[in-house]
Amino acid sequence: MITIVSGTNRNDAVSQRLSRIYQKLLDAQNVENEIIDLSDLPTDFAFSALYDKSGKNKVFNVFRNKMRNSDKFVFIVAEYNGSFPGVLKMFIDGLEFPKTFEGKKCALVGLSSGVQGGGLALSHLTDIFNYCGMYVLPLKPKLAQIEKNMDKDKREITNDLYNELLETQARDIVNF
Ligand SMILES: Cc1cc2nc3c(=O)[nH]c(=O)nc-3n(C[C@H](O)[C@H](O)[C@H](O)COP(=O)(O)O)c2cc1C
Repeated sequence: MITIVSGTNRNDAVSQRLSRIYQKLLDAQNVENEIIDLSDLPTDFAFSALYDKSGKNKVFNVFRNKMRNSDKFVFIVAEYNGSFPGVLKMFIDGLEFPKTFEGKKCALVGLSSGVQGGGLALSHLTDIFNYCGMYVLPLKPKLAQIEKNMDKDKREITNDLYNELLETQARDIVNF
């Protein structure tokens, strides 16, 4: 079971679109998968599901348990202010430590409007996941200028290299 995390709570996010594209790559390999979209989190979770309140927000616990029970993850990570979205760190801080990530494996995909493709965001996140005991697949596609490399409905990626990198990574995470 691979859980794809759409790593922002921004409405109508490109991360959501990419999560669906990634889901098709896993479906094509007959790999069971599910998308967790951070825009579906309870809006007050930062104040009702963390620290002394961890485990006490029933709606957040559904997401928490799904993460705890998943073996592998794919994180779709937009570049926000030179790093990854704050809501993703808040989400990670609300998960069960260390069991959610310890000894597990993940793949990371970065995207940005600018030229970095979330490279630094992926490095920051790699440090965090390594701290949590999770193995990060070395191939981390950085999809720079993402809007210019998708069709106008944002249903498909039009850049051949980006598609090739995602296909390779999707195969690699299954065999990782
Ligand atoms: C709060 C915020 C900060 C951003 N910071 C950056 C940035 O540092 N570098 C960049 O290239 N793009 C930046 N962007 C643009 C996003 O990376 C780009 O629009 C991406 O497609 C957004 O993904 P999303 O639609 O999944 O939120 C930022 C967007 C937001 C909303």
